Amino acid sequence: MNSTIEIKHIEKSRIDSVDFNNLPFGSVYSDHMLTCTYKNGQWGTPIIEPYAPISLDPSAKIFHYGQSIFEGMKAYKDADENILLFRPTENCKRLNKSAERLVIPQIPEDVFMNGLKELLKVDANWIPTNEGSSLYIRPFMFASGKGFHASPADEYKLMICTAPSGAYFAGKVKVLIEEKYARAANGGVGFAKAGGNYAAQFYPTQLAIEKGFNQVIWTDDNTHEYIEEAGAMNIFVRINDTLITSPVSDRILDGITRKSIIQIAKDLDIDVEVRKITVSEVIAAAQSGSLKEMFGAGTAAVISPIAGFGYQEKEYELPELSQPYASTLKKAITDIQTNKAPDKHGWRVVVK
Ligand code: PLP
Ligand code: COI
Repeated sequence: MNSTIEIKHIEKSRIDSVDFNNLPFGSVYSDHMLTCTYKNGQWGTPIIEPYAPISLDPSAKIFHYGQSIFEGMKAYKDADENILLFRPTENCKRLNKSAERLVIPQIPEDVFMNGLKELLKVDANWIPTNEGSSLYIRPFMFASGKGFHASPADEYKLMICTAPSGAYFAGKVKVLIEEKYARAANGGVGFAKAGGNYAAQFYPTQLAIEKGFNQVIWTDDNTHEYIEEAGAMNIFVRINDTLITSPVSDRILDGITRKSIIQIAKDLDIDVEVRKITVSEVIAAAQSGSLKEMFGAGTAAVISPIAGFGYQEKEYELPELSQPYASTLKKAITDIQTNKAPDKHGWRVVVK
């Protein structure tokens, strides 16, 4: 294993062409990217070079058999211009969990972390500082090895690209509780951040969008009676003053935002239950008025309040509260991430 990183700097930065006051999500890319290639049974030297298209053989297995996984992280800057990450080794661990399930080689944590930190230092100017913006980080691994034989590839790439980004959702989020399609099944890859999980969501999500919703809330594939998660975030439901979220499983992504929110809620003496939630319980609560809030939690989405949901051709609106848990928890987590609040759980990592 080579511990050095090769760096080729861009000749002229593109940063002046970016409007940092008007950032989209994930579609403006920083000057550099990192690539590390796994070949002949070992990882090579990571390379940081100008962001550019890459070249792959048409028979690369990523195209045919979907051996592809990714992560989502964010970098922030505090008032002293320190570069901050939030629980980054959790992302590396989850990337390796996904890798194991898709027979992609494990990336050593030091290679991942050192490469990421170096990339952030090279593109430090791209980390936005205005409220609600951050540098979205997209690490991904895929099969670059060739062959039409349906078996794992013999060559892989880890790449990390970054994108100064604003909010993931523009405006209020309306979700449709799904009762026909499933995102994941027992024994499947739902717990992994496999590209195919997202591809499989696009069709049912498109149908939901045509009906006026933004996202689907997935229910269990077997009975469709239990709320699981949304397309890009875990789901929290507040009934009276109790915050409830489903336990993670084979089918549900173990979200880092989710587990941080559970801890922060406990720190704030909010009653939290990690248990299965039935759709009928949510409908009954909506009808009786005890359903106070629903929100999604994820790196891209941060905390996204749900304004209403659809189920079986009926629509339900959530009340507008003056001090929702969603706002309190969003402020609490972003204050920790951006060094505006003490980090009592040791989640923040300063990039040096
Ligand atoms: N669930 C799904 C399907 C996701 O894609 C994400 C986003 O990463 C999450 C949940 C939230 O996970 P995290 O908080 O680790 O970003
Ligand atoms: C993230 O929240 O980082 C994700 O990976 C979700 C993605 C679908 C945007």
